[in-house]
Parts: sequence; C-alpha cells; structure tokens
Amino acid sequence: MIKDKKPLPQDIVAFIQECMAKEHSKSFLIPVLQKIQHHFGYLPAECMDQVSDMMQIPSARVTGVATFYHLFSFVPKGKNRITICMGTACFVRGSAKILQRLKELLGVEEGQTTQDGMFSLDCARCLGACALAPIVVINDKIYGNVKPDEIQKILAEYGYSPVAKN
Ligand code: FES
Repeated sequence: MIKDKKPLPQDIVAFIQECMAKEHSKSFLIPVLQKIQHHFGYLPAECMDQVSDMMQIPSARVTGVATFYHLFSFVPKGKNRITICMGTACFVRGSAKILQRLKELLGVEEGQTTQDGMFSLDCARCLGACALAPIVVINDKIYGNVKPDEIQKILAEYGYSPVAKN
C-alpha cells in the first residue's frame, strides 16, 4: 500500500495547538478530523499519525473514531459525492433500486470513486429527511422522492455523460 505523504496544513496544526491549550483537549478530536476531511476531501493516513502525536491520542482510537462516523473517509472522494440513504423509510420506498441504478450508471460499488474522479458513491443510514424518502444527496443538495429512472438526469446536472462511461 502506498503511504500518504500529506502533512497537516498549517491552519489545522494551529487549530490543534489551540485545542490542546484548552480543557478536555481530547474532546476536540472530531472537529479536528472534520477540518482535515474538509481540506483534503478524506483523511490521509499520515495526517492521522500527526493528529495522534499532537493530541496524544493512540492512533487506534483516532482511527476508531473516524471509522465510526460515516462522514469521514480514508480514501479520496470524487469531485461530486453521492450519498444514498438506506435508512428504513428510504429503504421501504425503493432506495435499493436507486442504489442499483447508480452502480450501473457509474460502474462503481458502494464506497468507490469513478475512475475519472467525478463521482463517489456512498450509503448512509437515515439522513433526517424521511418525509422526502427515498433521498439521494449529491454534495450538499438533497433530491427527494427519487425514482430510479430519474437518476441519469440528476447525474447529468453534475457533468455525467453515459457515452464517457460506457
Ligand atoms: S430513512 Fe432516509 S432520510 Fe430517514
């Protein structure tokens, strides 16, 4: 496996230093991880090592916390992040078929990114918009009451071209 060579950006180093000067400094782990995820689009392994050292938190615990929350990723994500809700309300209203359609169109499985780096596909539990079930979220935009045959048109808003994929 290729080792990441991404040092923490200076502003995040400064943020960690600020946190470490406060009470209960270790409770700032999630905000620190959020900043790293926001900066790189994922959590590079080398950054996790630095966080562990700077915050004096065992690396297994840093990884454990990051693994627990679905918003964190250990692999680079696509330019457009697609999340499909597989919570109960969405599931009973057909999210499995939407997921299947997304896989067919993009040629990737859950947790993967298309080769051109344009789209990544992830599933989540309830995203808190059950009244709109089934929902698909692309970046920060929520699509509600989605039907499988609408997916291609939605993806086209983000530059998807079926010719380029097939
Ligand atoms: S189950 Fe999908 S938003 Fe709640």
